[in-house]
Amino acid sequence: MLRLEHSWSWLALALAVLLGAKPSACGPPPGPRPNILLLMADDLGIGDVGCYGNTTIRTPNIDRLAADGVRLTQHLAAAPLCTPSRAAFLTGRYPLRSGMVSSQGLRVLQWTAVSGGLPPSEITFAKILKAKGYTTGLIGKWHLGLSCASPDDHCHHPLNHGFDHFYGMPFSMMADCERWELSEKRAVLESRLDVCFQLVALATLTLTIGKLTHLIPGASWTLVIWSAVVCLLLFATSCLVGALIMHADCFLMRNHSIAEQPMRSQRTTPLMLQEVSSFVKRHKQGPFLLFVSFLHVHTPLVTTENFRGRSPHGLYGDNTEEMDWMVGQILETLDTEGLTNSTLVYFTSDHGGSLEARFGNNQYGGWNGIYKGGKGMAGWEGGIRVPGIFRWPGVLPAGRVIHEPTSLMDIFPTVVHLAGGQVPQDRVVDGRDLLALLQGTARHSDHEFLMHYCESFLHAARWHQRDLWKVHFTTPIFQPDGAGACYGQIVCPCSGNRVTHHAPPLLFDLSRDPSEAHALTPDTEPSFHQVVETVARAVAAHRQTLIPVPLQLDAADNTWKPWLQPCCGRFPFCWCDRDADPR
Ligand SMILES: *[C@@H]1O[C@H](CO)[C@@H](O)[C@H](O)[C@H]1NC(C)=O
Repeated sequence: MLRLEHSWSWLALALAVLLGAKPSACGPPPGPRPNILLLMADDLGIGDVGCYGNTTIRTPNIDRLAADGVRLTQHLAAAPLCTPSRAAFLTGRYPLRSGMVSSQGLRVLQWTAVSGGLPPSEITFAKILKAKGYTTGLIGKWHLGLSCASPDDHCHHPLNHGFDHFYGMPFSMMADCERWELSEKRAVLESRLDVCFQLVALATLTLTIGKLTHLIPGASWTLVIWSAVVCLLLFATSCLVGALIMHADCFLMRNHSIAEQPMRSQRTTPLMLQEVSSFVKRHKQGPFLLFVSFLHVHTPLVTTENFRGRSPHGLYGDNTEEMDWMVGQILETLDTEGLTNSTLVYFTSDHGGSLEARFGNNQYGGWNGIYKGGKGMAGWEGGIRVPGIFRWPGVLPAGRVIHEPTSLMDIFPTVVHLAGGQVPQDRVVDGRDLLALLQGTARHSDHEFLMHYCESFLHAARWHQRDLWKVHFTTPIFQPDGAGACYGQIVCPCSGNRVTHHAPPLLFDLSRDPSEAHALTPDTEPSFHQVVETVARAVAAHRQTLIPVPLQLDAADNTWKPWLQPCCGRFPFCWCDRDADPR
């Protein structure tokens, strides 16, 4: 029935077009406005999903979503790391425009208690949809900042960016939340503190001997005692640093209050599912926008007992299969509530799988299939090419596959138009409305060029005309095979002495060489110079549109500030579990 209604409205639209009415990409979409359910995995590789060619990992729910909808094969993240990619997703703009990048090697927001974050002046699609009457919710990971000047001004909080409801982590899941081997922060801090401890211990010893033997004239017992106190403090901090990180960053919030600090990671899966189900039930009269931002499949790969040891790919595979099951549970909730046909569902990952997440012979990061590189690398496809699936029964064709270049930034104008809203006119929006492409009324995407940034540095750009050209200006130095890219670091750097600048740039034709294995030269590619010059002109034109803004991820706004630390209880005893109480 619904299908019929929609085809009638399309007939009417087709007639209107034939009769000379101007078709407008910004016109209202057919029929009632859909609910919008956005599902985003964390660090999932494109090669980890069945419908993208994986034959051994079981992702039946994501595969079914693709079979019932449209699957994009060239869907690209605007950045190869969480914070900037998510900022671009929510704003439809390259992260450099909102300042959600660094120029100093700080690739993501480092702590919850930093002053940087998505500036309140940015407009997210949630903000527009809320103004258009949608009920908006975010469940899961945020990682776009919290407060500016005091611990509860919450200037960067999801509720200050258009969400009516938030339940989840203001920061990000990380190995340090479970004291895992592949520590992001603990190991570094511990070793720095240990060095300080050893230096001060040596100084204390020297002073003591100096005092006893009268060899050091300035040495006094007061000095010795102070030095010993500092020494003890450093030692204690070094022992406690793991616990401190857990309290500082691994906690859950419900709207403006802390729900559980530190969180018990094992409980987050059922808690998130319960939260999704109750949101959908509460707002089934619609329209609603729900962004489910999974903590899966980021390390430490927290997996419930039911899924442990089930996949042929170790803990990473188990975790991926569990996330697929969660997708299934969420889709089932839609079904039970009778919302399947009135909801646009989207599934993606914030960027490619991590090649560095390995320990010994065990790979704990995602698989990027035939694509080179991974998480942290902006130019190579493996860092930015991600799954992209849309389902809206009756409006979008089932089983269609589209190979055109599209971006995560395209979600912004797409959902804004579906909600009957307008994209902001006072700023550059880089995303393009996807509806016509998804429906098949447009054959080509509106992206002729796409820029590929690593932090604030432009590493590569693609040009899609008949062929699909990719031009690399800078590439990270890494080992493509063996022990995982920039093994020993968390991600490969964007600048400095661990990158190569290419003059002339590297050129690939992705339509013939999607793995970027064979760089073209003026000898092998007659149009080499013409392509490189065209792309260089596009880059120059793009640069003209940039307005300098403060970089939120630079050290000034990306260093831990004790006075911004959210704390449930009395500092430094940040400890509570409000969800344990019956609600
Ligand atoms: C499927 O995914 C796993 C886990 O990431 C990976 O090890 C494996 O190589 C993939 N298989 C294929 C055929 O892509």
